[in-house]
Amino acid sequence: MQKSIEALRHSLTLDYDSARSMPAEFYTSEKLLEVEKDKLFTSQWLCLGRIQQIPKPGDYYATEVMGEPLIVVRTNMQTISVLSNVCRHRGSILVRDSGNTDTFTCPYHSWSYNIDGSLRRAPLIIDRPDFEPKKCRLPAFSSEVWGGFIYVNLDGTAPTLASQLEGLSNLIKNYHMSDMVELHSEESTWDTNWKCLTENFMEGYHLSTVHRKTLHPITPTHLCEHFPAGQGYFGYFSVFPDDLPQRGKFHPDLTTKERQRSVMFAIPPGHVAGVAGHKVTYLYIQPDTVDTVRVKRGIAFADPAISNDSLENAVDLFEQTMAEDKIQLANLRQGLHSRSVTTAPLAPANFEGNVLDFYQYLARHIL
Ligand code: FES
Ligand SMILES: [Fe+2]
Repeated sequence: MQKSIEALRHSLTLDYDSARSMPAEFYTSEKLLEVEKDKLFTSQWLCLGRIQQIPKPGDYYATEVMGEPLIVVRTNMQTISVLSNVCRHRGSILVRDSGNTDTFTCPYHSWSYNIDGSLRRAPLIIDRPDFEPKKCRLPAFSSEVWGGFIYVNLDGTAPTLASQLEGLSNLIKNYHMSDMVELHSEESTWDTNWKCLTENFMEGYHLSTVHRKTLHPITPTHLCEHFPAGQGYFGYFSVFPDDLPQRGKFHPDLTTKERQRSVMFAIPPGHVAGVAGHKVTYLYIQPDTVDTVRVKRGIAFADPAISNDSLENAVDLFEQTMAEDKIQLANLRQGLHSRSVTTAPLAPANFEGNVLDFYQYLARHIL
């Protein structure tokens, strides 16, 4: 791990013209992965889904992040809570599905909880001086909603997400991403290190090669434009050719320039996305091992009444590009385990600047 630590420290002294790729160990070290799980995935904000998945009070879904079973529930029109999905009695998982309810009842001995996490009933346990039902509630994790996405911070120590994303919020406000509705979602495991996947999503250098037939006609490498990173994000604009027609409905607040580009952004450690006028595409990334990563992904649209044909085309394009990336990342995994892998200069800021932004984010949080 020492080489990676030194390289991360060194990255803080580099600018885009002197940036270099990391040693292979950065992507293969089990020790480093443990540090990342502790200092990033436990201590920063992780994305769990979209608010439109739970539009009505009582709507909920069970999920799990970094091994922690969670219930995401809308307690009223204004509030979404992220509760522990572990029974306070003897630790059973409470729910495994999604739906609408006013009570979570444990399948084991029927302890039941209100949707705010408070205990409703513990059958047959009465008059025990050492049992205070009011104190026995499902713990709530720190959570925040930003841009229509729901985030959790497992250890409750992260600075507020909104404060970390101020600059990004300004860049994307006219897209009205909060109103976009998820119409496609998928989940799979990829053979890659989680950082390779983040870097891959966030650099435009490979767009015109790996995605020659799919993305190159829409967002070619040579039109990519880097923008300055902030405390909790980094990103770039993937600009469309002038003659590319608008693809679907968009918000009237968008300027002509904003309509002709996607804002690609990463909210490390686990969330990357690209928002355009008509849709936002996104991945939620969770490392499993150094060489495998769980990828939840989706597309939310500005026009929820989009035609079936347009929806199918958008999903096909997205899944095709994902399949292209998946193959390339498996290639990379094999290469990174070779004896002869080395480090080299990164391409200019517009094309690989986000890779240095990512190293520097990691350095700030890990060192
Ligand atoms: S473990 Fe839940 S009621 Fe016993
Ligand atoms: Fe790609």
